[in-house]
Amino acid sequence: MVILITGGAGFIGSNLIHYWLAQNPGDTIVNFDALTYAGNLANLAGVESNPNYHFFQGDLRKQEQLDEVFQQFSIDSVIHLAAESHVDRSINDPSPFIDSNIRGTFQLLETARNHWQEDLKDHRFLHVSTDEVYGTLGKEGLFTEQTPFAPNSPYSSSKASSDHLVRAWHHTFGMDTLITHCSNNYGPYQFPEKLIPLMIRNCLLGKELPVYGDGLQVRDWLYVEDHCEALDVVFHRGQSGESYNIGGLNEWENLSMVRHICQFMDAELGNSPEQSCLNLIRHIQDRPGHDRRYAIDASKIQNQLGWQPRHQIGEGLEKTMRWYLDHQEWVEQVTSGAYRDYYKHHYGTG
Ligand code: NAD
Ligand code: DAU
Repeated sequence: MVILITGGAGFIGSNLIHYWLAQNPGDTIVNFDALTYAGNLANLAGVESNPNYHFFQGDLRKQEQLDEVFQQFSIDSVIHLAAESHVDRSINDPSPFIDSNIRGTFQLLETARNHWQEDLKDHRFLHVSTDEVYGTLGKEGLFTEQTPFAPNSPYSSSKASSDHLVRAWHHTFGMDTLITHCSNNYGPYQFPEKLIPLMIRNCLLGKELPVYGDGLQVRDWLYVEDHCEALDVVFHRGQSGESYNIGGLNEWENLSMVRHICQFMDAELGNSPEQSCLNLIRHIQDRPGHDRRYAIDASKIQNQLGWQPRHQIGEGLEKTMRWYLDHQEWVEQVTSGAYRDYYKHHYGTG
């Protein structure tokens, strides 16, 4: 089976490729990635020499590159992760989100449909989406697969739009599609614009820890390897045309998460109470349209496909924080150049 993984140089995509090649050694993976600021081939160190792995630098927005990769590798199936993924960037400039997430998904669906037209039903297309399409929760309740879409940011609305396209390609053209809606991931190779790696990096540098608003917003955290396993399970056992929620049942207020990171870093760095990273916490202006709470009901994937997360949050966070401590060169490499400009523009400090 030749599987096209889009966005394989990003955070979840690279973790998925490491996972997939180890778990499914009979498969060939073609990694299609434009290498935007978020894509980094260093995430795939060690994989390049695997004969079952190929990298194709390509952009979803360029039709000829999609045609080329399908022709060159006789793609059997697609797992689609490539997207602009950061909410704050979508607020600063929504345009790339519309182009890559909506138009890009449309072009990918059409390319696949065109190349598979003889036996469309024999090819799977797994679209990796997000719980953010459901909008925000109050203090109670969980997102189920029946929760109506109510996306609140340019990012989540672009993802919701792409989900609708995938759904329509199943209903209208009979394409064998699946959609997953996952909660916040954490783990190795996450770009340090996202909450957890940003806070770890700033603790190491002694920089302020920017907490939006009151910091009492809630996210449901899942270790990235558990997400990869869920994608494997859905890809192999999911029912055509269905969508599946994936989540960790790990709700944390942002401020508690930041404090937890501070305490871990204090212990690692041998900080005295006066030097504590807790002193670096700063409440800054809230994110416009900030979703208050996400929490996933993952009972469908659990009951129907037998998946549940393996990692407890304490264990997963410790592994993650240690990974960042042990890979400061990687952090330095991915945060050089354009990231610094973004940081200054967004947070107003260097
Ligand atoms: P990421 O930003 O780390 O990686 C995205 C990758 O896509 C990068 O390698 C980038 O180069 C590539 N890419 C972007 N635009 C492209 C284009 N036009 N053509 C080809 N490649 C392009 O993102 P991530 O956090 O790994 O998320 C991956 C997917 O999972 C996204 O679709 C996201 O919506 C979804 N998701 C993420 C989370 C999370 O917590 N990070 C949770 C649920 C779902
Ligand atoms: O829920 C899944 C989604 O999780 C994915 O679809 C997105 O791709 C992914 O980026 C993530 O979105 P969030 O907006 O929840 O993640 P982020 O790490 O940007 O922020 C997590 C929370 O922390 C959120 O409530 C905003 C807050 N935050 C974030 C940053 C970067 C801060 O308070 N300060 C910050 O500097």
